[in-house]
Amino acid sequence: MTDLVVHDAAQVVTPTGGGDGDGSDDELEVIENGAVAIEDGIVVAVGPTTDVTRAHPPENATESVDATGRTVLPGFVDPHTHAVFAGDRVDEFTAKLAGASYQDILEEGGGILRTVRATREAERAELVANLLEHLDTMLAHGTTTVEVKSGYGLDVETELKLLEAIDEAADQHPIDVVPTFMGAHAVPEGADTEEYVDRVIEEQLPAVADAGLAEFCDVFCEAGVFSVSQSRRILEAGQELGLTPKIHAEEFERLGGSQLAADCGAASADHLLQATDEDIEALGEAGVTPVLLPGTAFSLGAPYADAAAFEAADVPVALATDFNPNCFSQSMESVVELACNGMRMTPAAAIRGATSIAARAVDRTDGTGTIREGAPGDLAIATVTNYQHIPYNFGVSNVQTVITDGTVVHRD
Ligand code: NIG
Ligand code: FE
Repeated sequence: MTDLVVHDAAQVVTPTGGGDGDGSDDELEVIENGAVAIEDGIVVAVGPTTDVTRAHPPENATESVDATGRTVLPGFVDPHTHAVFAGDRVDEFTAKLAGASYQDILEEGGGILRTVRATREAERAELVANLLEHLDTMLAHGTTTVEVKSGYGLDVETELKLLEAIDEAADQHPIDVVPTFMGAHAVPEGADTEEYVDRVIEEQLPAVADAGLAEFCDVFCEAGVFSVSQSRRILEAGQELGLTPKIHAEEFERLGGSQLAADCGAASADHLLQATDEDIEALGEAGVTPVLLPGTAFSLGAPYADAAAFEAADVPVALATDFNPNCFSQSMESVVELACNGMRMTPAAAIRGATSIAARAVDRTDGTGTIREGAPGDLAIATVTNYQHIPYNFGVSNVQTVITDGTVVHRD
């Protein structure tokens, strides 16, 4: 029996490729008056409603959703967040509005270091509860897969506590959570950078790999934080333990993180506000997925990444929230809106960036981020008749119903 049939949608929208690295994600297919059938959590049919419902009558399904007047999309994939932490930094938000820079705040012991202090003091249960709340907000805005980084511990004990909190929250929540270890998120107060890099490599990475709590290893490769050679040592050490590299690259200064990502076969290089044409070409040739974070530029008051340069080089970009205490939005709908209205991406490119291309950035090659036969049954249904209305009608929540593995898990 079919578990779920969604029928009579004004549009069913899906990237035609999907997370399989074959470069065929270039089209966004739109099926007018479409339907989707899901069995055992997996999409078994997608197409015009008449065809799908003939083979999978909604009246025989465990559950059916009449999507008349609405648009069905793959659930969003958010491939870059720092969603597990204690406290917030709303006062720094107002300081930034008054002119303080992100780096000034960090140098004075604020920013990441302040969140580290709060997070070290928090019990694991508090971190799990915080994360679950953020996951609920993400889900309500259509996210069905999210990457979550550790990185507010900066010592072996707290980094493990964060990864355990991610694991525990993931077990309790319908969103598919992808864990990343980011002990190299900042240099702890009072520490020498080289010595801290040794600690990440000798203490943290082996403990994390032993516990089997992370898929990826990420580094903040930035002037005043970790240099390219320090980042390389950490990413290569992680790789030897089975963790795939990711990197925060060329955010405030162009340091060479993109070339490093290309050299070590990273899954993604993220931020890229200062990336040059040469960097873009290196990423494209090496098959590293660029991840742009327009919410970060928006909340820093910085110029956006040059999405048009990636488009011109034919290197598709993923999009992510970068949700963290400095960039406080859990919403991929907002990211799609900023990508179009801020970075001038087309709605089709933004939807692909938030679904199938984002799935590549977290190495999901099972069709995540698409609606095609064999893909996970993860859908977001929006109260619009055409997907272009999502960024057009900005500042409101268009997503109404969310489905993960063929089950309705959110309904407004
Ligand atoms: O990706 N740049 C480094 N890490 C985060 C910010 C984390 C924070 O400020 O707490 C980012 O923007
Ligand atoms: Fe980040």
